[in-house]
Amino acid sequence: MEKVDSKLLKEKALEEIKKANSPEELGEVFNKYLGKQGELINVLRSLADLNKEEKVRIGMEANEVKDILRMEFEKKEKELKEEKKRESEEKEWLDVTIPGKKPKAGHLHPLTLVRWKIEEIFKGMGFSVADGPEVETDFYNFEALNIPKDHPARDMWDTLWIKAPASAKASAGKQQSKLLLRTHTSPVQIRYMENNKPPLRIIIPGRIFRKEATDASHDFQFHHVEGLMVGKDISVANFKGIMQEFFSSFFGKQTDLRLRPSYFPFTEPSFEIDITCVVCGGKGCSVCKEAGWLEMMGCGMVHPNVYKNSGLKEKGLTGFAFGMGWDRLTMMMYKINEIRLLQSGDLRFLSQF
Ligand code: DAH
Repeated sequence: MEKVDSKLLKEKALEEIKKANSPEELGEVFNKYLGKQGELINVLRSLADLNKEEKVRIGMEANEVKDILRMEFEKKEKELKEEKKRESEEKEWLDVTIPGKKPKAGHLHPLTLVRWKIEEIFKGMGFSVADGPEVETDFYNFEALNIPKDHPARDMWDTLWIKAPASAKASAGKQQSKLLLRTHTSPVQIRYMENNKPPLRIIIPGRIFRKEATDASHDFQFHHVEGLMVGKDISVANFKGIMQEFFSSFFGKQTDLRLRPSYFPFTEPSFEIDITCVVCGGKGCSVCKEAGWLEMMGCGMVHPNVYKNSGLKEKGLTGFAFGMGWDRLTMMMYKINEIRLLQSGDLRFLSQF
């Protein structure tokens, strides 16, 4: 049989014990040398084939190595256990002086910031803020606003009709049964005048819906702020003064406006309002397409039929109304060139405000 050198074996084993990184690895090394089929045990078994002198010498050597290795194994086992304990203690350790994780604070959407600003300016001029439903009836959205069925003026709004549930049909009057997503905030004029007596001074900021193909400046849902002032002797001059004050406060600088004749079924006469371009101040630039003016809104003096349809019988009422896209105001205020970003929910966009 091949002679095994116990000293060499000892060196090898000690080296491997030293390298063992876990109790499992150490167990393997133990089996390799001191296990039932281990290398050292094999040395002891092979003693039978040797002569007496060699038996004594090699036997003694091998037993000595066995004892040393056992001791080394035990020592290493203890070391590994301690190391493990230390590691888990380190993991569980809690540093109470580390500052806590700050929750991310949200903030208001740019559309909300602009709505609040609009409301603040109008409240300062004695207006209140009113509200109405986003799902409207044909009656409030069209008919009561002097837009009868089959009137060509209905083509001005790309309407999203919705199927009324049977329960709504049963409870609503015949003319009110057709439902739609409101195409403008003007129906709230009627709802408000049904329940309040003049003098009236309100604005109605809200979401509106149209069946539109979308692009950088059109979305199928956007926002209007409606305005309505009704009383005695209210003139176009009053209206012009109020709007001039509004735009100058909103943009923080003197902003002139002009009225152009227009047509809306619920106002007579009707106008469009343009303001001096807030970018170039009226000289002409790419934003105003060299015109020096920006088109801002539709408006006019409330049509007598609108009072009648709201149930207001008082004689001599006069008043003005307007409807203005406030997405556009938001885009001008923050220099945003894509309307669809406003409703995208994209945090890369929203976190800039
Ligand atoms: N509702 C109109 C639209 O959606 C805007 C408008 C024009 C509102 C004239 C008014 C108004 O109150 O008097 O285009």
